[in-house]
Amino acid sequence: MTRGVRLVSVVAALCVQLANCAPDVPTFKLNNGKEMPAIALGTYLGFDQNGIVKPQDKQVVKVVEHAIDVGYRHFDTASVYSTEEQLGEGVRNKIEEGKVIREDLFITTKLWNTHHKREQVAEALRESLKQLSLNYVDLYLMHWPIGLNEDYSNSDVDFMETWRGLEDMQRLGLAKSIGLSNFNQEQLERVIKECSIKPAVLQIEVHPQIIQSDLVSYAQSQGIVVMGYSPFGSLVSRFGVPPGSGPSIDDPTLVEIAKKHGKTTPQVVLRWLVDRDIVPVPKTVNLKRLEENIDIFDFKLDKDEIEKINKYDKQIRYTLPSFWQNHPYYPFEKIENPLPNPFEKKA
Ligand SMILES: NC(=O)c1ccc[n+]([C@@H]2O[C@H](COP(=O)([O-])OP(=O)(O)OC[C@H]3O[C@@H](n4cnc5c(N)ncnc54)[C@H](OP(=O)(O)O)[C@@H]3O)[C@@H](O)[C@H]2O)c1
Repeated sequence: MTRGVRLVSVVAALCVQLANCAPDVPTFKLNNGKEMPAIALGTYLGFDQNGIVKPQDKQVVKVVEHAIDVGYRHFDTASVYSTEEQLGEGVRNKIEEGKVIREDLFITTKLWNTHHKREQVAEALRESLKQLSLNYVDLYLMHWPIGLNEDYSNSDVDFMETWRGLEDMQRLGLAKSIGLSNFNQEQLERVIKECSIKPAVLQIEVHPQIIQSDLVSYAQSQGIVVMGYSPFGSLVSRFGVPPGSGPSIDDPTLVEIAKKHGKTTPQVVLRWLVDRDIVPVPKTVNLKRLEENIDIFDFKLDKDEIEKINKYDKQIRYTLPSFWQNHPYYPFEKIENPLPNPFEKKA
């Protein structure tokens, strides 16, 4: 197991006793001693012609309530997702019902790019806490290394200045842990070199078509836990967009592995992340799939099966904001024809 990142597989009773998490979800130990449940429910609902999709009625409240009932203790949101408020409501309802206490839960949210100046970080986190109706979050992530002005033009705020702002939040106790999202290795190395508080977590896109071996190994060698977003990759269609080319949900290799373990192919892919010591962040608003996606802690893939899945790697990203590629801190490879900027109408 990689140095610094230990998957603590604890038996149900011990887990309840030590980490107050659901009986059969193990935890990862962060570099500050805190425990993070090994799967997080994603709450990003996608993008359409009107911008970020907002939850209808109490859609996310109901999903969060059911998720808590079936064992999820870790939730991933962001100020830009428009789901903080409903996540907070679902959590509050379950606490009032006596199903969980706040300390059982691990809530992650993210700082948006338009609040990268050090003094703006507190303002942004206080607004997120208000939306969530919480006094603190368990994890606050810098969503991107890219700072933008209010009108969405490029800002030249250095992400190290922003990191100082996140460090302030941990010192104030408004965030129990802090981390980064969508940073490349060079950028992560710089934060590690110049920080006062080392990032506890790196959240990046990880699925069979982008396995991120080098970045994951580097982060884990530094004692940083990796969270993998969009974990299903090409297995599913997301936000009405058909899946890209790549292994489908009935891919013969995945089906063979799934049959052997009596699981579905989405479960195999989630387990592939867990077996690489990565916390998967699957999103679903479907109550049945919620249960399916968390039912992955009673089997394990062997080395050969992990290797078979690794072979699908083609470095294909579903989150590629090429409209920001002229920003000095753009973390990814540039492409020839960047996408139109969906945030432009906000300018
Ligand atoms: N840090 C970042 O920049 C960043 C970027 C992207 C995403 N994220 C985080 O990662 C989360 C997940 O990412 P994502 O939504 O892009 O990808 P994903 O979780 O890989 O895919 C979501 C899609 O899979 C479907 N699905 C879920 N479980 C399924 C199952 N068992 N079988 C078949 N289909 C299933 C969902 O549909 P239904 O809802 O209908 O089930 C949805 O269309 C987000 O919600 C967000 O929290 C972070």
